[in-house]
Amino acid sequence: MAVPADFGPMSAEEPEDRSTAFAAASVPDNYQRLLAPVIFEPWARVLVDAVGVKSSDRVLDVASGTGVVARLAARYTGPRGRVVASDASGPMLSHSARQPLPVQSAPIEFIEALATELPLPTESFDVVLCQQGLQFFSDRVDAVREMLRVLRAGGVVGAAVWAANYRSEPFDDYAEALDDAGLEPPFPQAFDRASFKMSAQDVRALFKEAGVSAPEVSVVEQTIVWPDSETACAGILGTPFGPMLEALSPADREAVEADLARRFAPDADGAPIKRIAAAVIVRAVKPATR
Ligand SMILES: C[S@@+](CC[C@H](N)C(=O)[O-])C[C@H]1O[C@@H](n2cnc3c(N)ncnc32)[C@H](O)[C@@H]1O
Repeated sequence: MAVPADFGPMSAEEPEDRSTAFAAASVPDNYQRLLAPVIFEPWARVLVDAVGVKSSDRVLDVASGTGVVARLAARYTGPRGRVVASDASGPMLSHSARQPLPVQSAPIEFIEALATELPLPTESFDVVLCQQGLQFFSDRVDAVREMLRVLRAGGVVGAAVWAANYRSEPFDDYAEALDDAGLEPPFPQAFDRASFKMSAQDVRALFKEAGVSAPEVSVVEQTIVWPDSETACAGILGTPFGPMLEALSPADREAVEADLARRFAPDADGAPIKRIAAAVIVRAVKPATR
């Protein structure tokens, strides 16, 4: 697989908004190392199984990040399939392109693009997936319409977003620890945790507004298991809060890390740390006449 050379620049600056929240240089490696194995890879299996990716399918993974869903889909489609990974962040895509593919996978193509402006032909995919991307899009309806545009009639969109009325594990703790320390959010509403979650009703309404009359929507719970407290705390470095934490004064950073250590303190018996997380999963078939 060719590694694309020229994705957008890495940034050490604070992001302007949610769509650029993953542009910093340090985020992709920490995301893939600290968050993907514990959180995003187990959830990817839930999404891909719920949607049903088949051998030889043409699959688009929107807001693909470091490629957790794209690589799983590539294994399901097999070498005769086609998988395209799109994301607004060049650094996330570059990291993804360096990851080895499972054997007997489709090759993965990479496209740096906003979810609302996919430079892809109409009706060119059988399946479009989007795991934990919707909450970052400036216009969610336009993004879902764009996913439907590139999908063939009868094709399936599958998306997952953290569920409203649940703690978003471990991300709520990360934001609260920074907020409680009196720090400024790195981009507008970065500490507004409710704005990163959706209810089943929100998701159903979103897909209906985008043109799907009967999306299948469910709330799925899953237990997250960290091997130890340190891994749970260090996950913050793989979020858009990572660069902010790394730029703090030693005293401020120590205070935030001490707060996180309290939040993810191990039990007296030293058992692995477990938390229940919940996501809204939607599976929507593109109507034949749109
Ligand atoms: C939480 S990560 C999810 C990554 C991946 N889907 C996964 O499950 O591991 C969110 C991703 O959304 C991307 N993103 C944010 N806003 C975007 C936009 N407007 N268009 C495309 N991608 C966007 C970010 O760059 C980031 O890679």
